[in-house]
Amino acid sequence: MGDTAGRRVLVASNRGPISYTREHDGQLTAKRGGGGMVSGLSSVAETEDMLWVCAALDDGDRAAVRNAGPGGLLRWEGTAGDSAVRMLDLPHTVFERAYNGVANSTLWFVHHMLYDTPNSPSFGPSFEREWTDFRTYNEAFAVALAEAAQSAAVPVRAVIQDYHLCLAPRMLAGRAPHVRIAHFSHTPWAPPDYYRMLPDAIGREVLEGILGADHAGFLCQRWADAFLDCCAEFLACKVDRERAEVRYDGRITTIGVHPLGVDADQLRDRAEQPDVQARMTALAEQAAGRKLIVRVDRTELSKNIVRGLEAYRELLRSRPEWRGRVTKVAFAYPSREDLPEYREYAAAVQRVGRQIEDEFATPGWDPLILQVNDDYPRSLAALRLANVLLVNPIRDGMNLVAKEGPILSDTGCAVVLSTEAGAAAELGGDALLVNPFDISQTADALHRALAMDDQQRTRRSNALAAAAAAMPPQRWFASQLDALGG
Ligand code: G6P
Repeated sequence: MGDTAGRRVLVASNRGPISYTREHDGQLTAKRGGGGMVSGLSSVAETEDMLWVCAALDDGDRAAVRNAGPGGLLRWEGTAGDSAVRMLDLPHTVFERAYNGVANSTLWFVHHMLYDTPNSPSFGPSFEREWTDFRTYNEAFAVALAEAAQSAAVPVRAVIQDYHLCLAPRMLAGRAPHVRIAHFSHTPWAPPDYYRMLPDAIGREVLEGILGADHAGFLCQRWADAFLDCCAEFLACKVDRERAEVRYDGRITTIGVHPLGVDADQLRDRAEQPDVQARMTALAEQAAGRKLIVRVDRTELSKNIVRGLEAYRELLRSRPEWRGRVTKVAFAYPSREDLPEYREYAAAVQRVGRQIEDEFATPGWDPLILQVNDDYPRSLAALRLANVLLVNPIRDGMNLVAKEGPILSDTGCAVVLSTEAGAAAELGGDALLVNPFDISQTADALHRALAMDDQQRTRRSNALAAAAAAMPPQRWFASQLDALGG
């Protein structure tokens, strides 16, 4: 446990850090859980005295809210000081419109440039209703954070996460001017020509929301620059690129790049557990000595799973020497199934998967292992066994899998990586970079990755693993607190 005396950190994000167990006394206790960014942030609570405010997402969460202790707080096991979680049980419609309507169908689409523009978006009265609820949702977080700040006896810093909560910094600053506020974007930021698709006033409100913070953090320089470009274009503000700050409405917001990485020791320990070992044995049996191309993603439009499969098909067509000698392992676990675009995309993944089977499978060779159920230990097992890791998003804030793969790989893996992933800024030198829309180039990169000699693959994989471990979550988080000062 770290020395947390004399400071309190508030974290806010849509998704919380927790799973629950019912204890003997009937109390629900918040525990660590989840994956990716959320699990990274969770580990920060081991050294920081933290209150994490999040939304109640399902019936289990809502039951936890009903059973929570005074002030709606859930105890958080294994954490520093008095760390606790507070979940906000928002009215169903407010949450749905804010989360599905605005955050995931609008802001996510804008920042990842996912729109099929001849057909969408179109902003009309129903979007206005959604936007009103998005404000209500952000306001609920700002109120909860302001309450927590008021009851704290020590200086408070609030670190607000992601596009769901882009309005909350300004709302919190209005309610609790003494709190130092950071906002962090885990997504890319759209360039002005794409960002201008948002209704004018809403585009400005989002920027103003973030500029309510004292510090705005991004995963790589490219996204920070795009944010500055949007500020310069859409707000009457002063953008100082040299000092990396924006002056707007009497406040100075510093802009920082904090490239989230992986806690290598913790991840390797997890991947040594028996559940992972068992899955490695099963997968190795299926692979029967063939090389493995692995990918692990949420079934997310921006992850570009379909073109990844098409590139693999192209590899097998254009380089028949690989037939029977390679297996692609694609884990695409369910995500955002409330949105029709995601359901259609999941179906497209299955469709292309079947086409590959039909074209190439032989009695003795299964070219593709496609699994769509979530199994974290199985994902770790695949990453340990991977010879090649394919990470080809259309656009991605960072993509932590690109960092986890080289850290976990037992014999060193070659990484085929999209230029449009934030991770490319740190890993580009030792990965094989590809344009995610170019399946011929991706097929060629897969070939080069498979053919890479052992010495080169090991050297590159070690360099990638070192870069991936450079900024573990605790250091990443500390660098944001440092940027806030105090
Ligand atoms: C991205 C976002 C996170 C979000 C995650 C999963 O990484 O930046 O904020 O938690 O996707 O999103 P979901 O809401 O579908 O669980």
